[in-house]
Amino acid sequence: MIKAIRGTRDILPPESGAFQYVETLAREVFRVFNFDEIRTPIFESAELFARSVGTETDIVSKEMYTFADRDETTLALRPEATASVVRAFIELQMSQEPGLKRFYYIGPMFRRERPQKGRYRQFYQIGAEVLGGDHPAIDAEVIEMVVEYLNRLGIRPFSLLLNSIGDSKCRPNFVKALKAAAGEVRDKLCENCQRRLETNPLRVLDCKVESCQPYINRFPSILEYLCADCQAHFSELRGLLDARGIAYQITPRMVRGLDYYTRTTFEITSDLLGAQNSLLGGGRYDGLSESIGGPPVKGIGFAIGLDRFVMVLTQIRPELGMDRPQVYVAWLGTKTLSKAYELTRMLRRAGVRCAIEFDEMKLKKALSNADRLKAAFVLIVGEDEIAKNKFGLKDMKGGSQVFLEERELVTRIQGAREGSAVPA
Ligand code: HAM
Repeated sequence: MIKAIRGTRDILPPESGAFQYVETLAREVFRVFNFDEIRTPIFESAELFARSVGTETDIVSKEMYTFADRDETTLALRPEATASVVRAFIELQMSQEPGLKRFYYIGPMFRRERPQKGRYRQFYQIGAEVLGGDHPAIDAEVIEMVVEYLNRLGIRPFSLLLNSIGDSKCRPNFVKALKAAAGEVRDKLCENCQRRLETNPLRVLDCKVESCQPYINRFPSILEYLCADCQAHFSELRGLLDARGIAYQITPRMVRGLDYYTRTTFEITSDLLGAQNSLLGGGRYDGLSESIGGPPVKGIGFAIGLDRFVMVLTQIRPELGMDRPQVYVAWLGTKTLSKAYELTRMLRRAGVRCAIEFDEMKLKKALSNADRLKAAFVLIVGEDEIAKNKFGLKDMKGGSQVFLEERELVTRIQGAREGSAVPA
């Protein structure tokens, strides 16, 4: 038997309905913040991610799906999309156009991680990027947008973790201090930390191993090493978030798992998630463009883990994504089929979700099928009904039945939906 690859999955209703709901709302919210959609390829040159995300990161060194194309170029399934958006920005010379570019994307990403609840090898992100500026007001607006989106979805409680990791001017001083401090307790740290100390010292701060925590807590804080420009940027951002009433926790240990970040970094976590508690992450990446051979282009963005959003949302709103037939059309006798189909067509054109079956059956069987499908109404089309132009509409919840003329059907059915608890 051929099975889905480990870490991948088939997303079925109602979860697929919840995915649609979350995606539609993202499009709505991002649109009013003046973002447009960008669709970049799902595979790119592997070098793109090596030079942006970084060769020493777990994502590139251990988790990237890399393969040789027939012409021997090395390709990769995208582990994230920020690098692709910046690549497109450079390649299509978008810096020639005035103003900022605001893009969002929705799609699958691939990382060969150890699968567990909320962690997959093919997972889905909704991301957004603003390119062409580094004013802290941009950072504040990006954060405001994502917070607005969470509020609109009704995801709460959540925590916004905020940090600044400096830039190429000030970060080297911090890394030096960090290495010195960690070097003193080197043999007390876990193997991973010891390795990271050589390859990617900032990531030591991210270690979750219990025995490392007392030492890491005593390491210097990046915030004490920020240069005047980075400090001013961070303090202006905090002021702008305060003015918007957006609560955050300064988290100096949050360094993120991708190398391209500069200055602002942020994550939103939720206790509803369990171990994989990061709902989304993002930050500024003012040097990314140059690292892949482009002109200086400043940018900031974030990516939401769509699978995790859906997981949290379906805990809060278990009905999310359930979209059952509004009407099950029960026809009684072959002579009624063409009228039944005509009514079905009329209802469908009015936007009513209808189910109709093509085998003849008795009313009792039809009602039990409608029940199984959880249809809200059954429309009964018999020879009598056709003769009188009055059709039985049975409310499957309340059990009551009314007889309505053809022209009354849509209003009655749609009216019932408006009052329902299921989000449209
Ligand atoms: P990231 O933190 O690597 O950032 O991923 C963002 C989010 O994607 C995570 O917070 C998590 O919710 C979700 N995620 C990551 N890996 C998995 C997985 N294996 N299974 C399920 N969900 C996962 C980025 O990808 C950056 N490109 C974000 C960004 C955009 N920074 C600036 N612009």
